[in-house]
Amino acid sequence: MAGNSFGRIFRITTFGESHGNGLGVVIDGCPPRIPLTREDFVRDMVRRRPGAAPVASPRKEADQVEIQSGVFEDITTGAPLMLFIRNQDADSRPYEVLREVFRPGHGDYSYFRKYGHFDFRGGGRYSARETAARVAAGVVAGKILDPLGVKVVAYTLELGGVKAKDIDLSLIEKSLFFCPDLLASKKMEEIVSNARKEENSLGGIVEILVKGCPAGLGEPVFDKLDADLAKAIMSVGTVKGVEIGAGFEAVRLRGSENNDPITPKGFRSNHAGGILGGISNGDDIVLRAAMKPVPSINLEQDTIDRKGQPSKLRFAGRHDIASIPRIVPVLEAMVKLVLADHYLRSKAIDSNDSQRRQF
Ligand SMILES: Cc1cc2nc3c(=O)[nH]c(=O)nc-3n(C[C@H](O)[C@H](O)[C@H](O)COP(=O)(O)O)c2cc1C
Repeated sequence: MAGNSFGRIFRITTFGESHGNGLGVVIDGCPPRIPLTREDFVRDMVRRRPGAAPVASPRKEADQVEIQSGVFEDITTGAPLMLFIRNQDADSRPYEVLREVFRPGHGDYSYFRKYGHFDFRGGGRYSARETAARVAAGVVAGKILDPLGVKVVAYTLELGGVKAKDIDLSLIEKSLFFCPDLLASKKMEEIVSNARKEENSLGGIVEILVKGCPAGLGEPVFDKLDADLAKAIMSVGTVKGVEIGAGFEAVRLRGSENNDPITPKGFRSNHAGGILGGISNGDDIVLRAAMKPVPSINLEQDTIDRKGQPSKLRFAGRHDIASIPRIVPVLEAMVKLVLADHYLRSKAIDSNDSQRRQF
């Protein structure tokens, strides 16, 4: 199974399964002398872990990150950094019903077609549990970005059809859904509670905002910053669409409306979402991810068994009602990973540093 690594210089490889011993990440190319202790991981791991919000799976995991290598005297050494997270509350019993049949909307069927088997105990590699390793890696990437003044923040714009309207980013952490509109957040609680009663699931939209990104990140032509960000975000389960800046709305604008006028003080608008020609332009980077409803629902569904015979599935395992809010720190982490990698890449080839810093 290939495809478990991401990034060029700051390169992560995630490993492990939802119902195995645990999971983690090896980071190659991590610069030396970054202060790092296990406490650094607590905030983001808690924001992502199950059992933390009413919308989330009741699975109880401490999600403590063990630093297995690459750190000495609380600073990174430059050697491969291995972070490990033990599974403590994996309960495979409810998944027995999935031994023979495929969950509609999940990876079971396509994994079976590709590999001839699938890990019916929660999905193995395609379980959302894998994203814990990404969040841990994102904390380290954040430590590269922090001294540069780069801040990445994600928040919920929409859940189950309820939209945030009055955006106040200072309220994000006050909302169960990381929603910057507390009125909308209250309505989201209602819609989630209804979906739970109906034994159904919900989708939504998360926006990711990057402030303080220097101009000049991104490598033409295949490693454009927007292309790498889109790949990073799209690689997270349930994400079915990515927008940058004006995104799909741009198709309804004229060039005169969509172009961002350039003034000596900077851009007058930001339809570009901070990226032009695949390279950051120094403005805020604005991305949105669209998430489908999580596939596991308790309602009866049509499916087939491993022999291709029609079957019915009613699955009562522990699962989230939506990938929001747990996906929010995951998306932040993916964006940090891309930016840290591109920052290190730009340092390696930059011949025009003074020009880049002018604006
Ligand atoms: C944070 C997060 C939590 C998720 N929780 C669940 C869940 O509880 N149950 C479930 O069936 N899928 C869940 N998913 C989604 C599946 O992992 C994903 O839909 C599945 O692997 C199929 O992949 P696809 O959505 O990319 O097609 C979650 C995804 C994320 C990112």
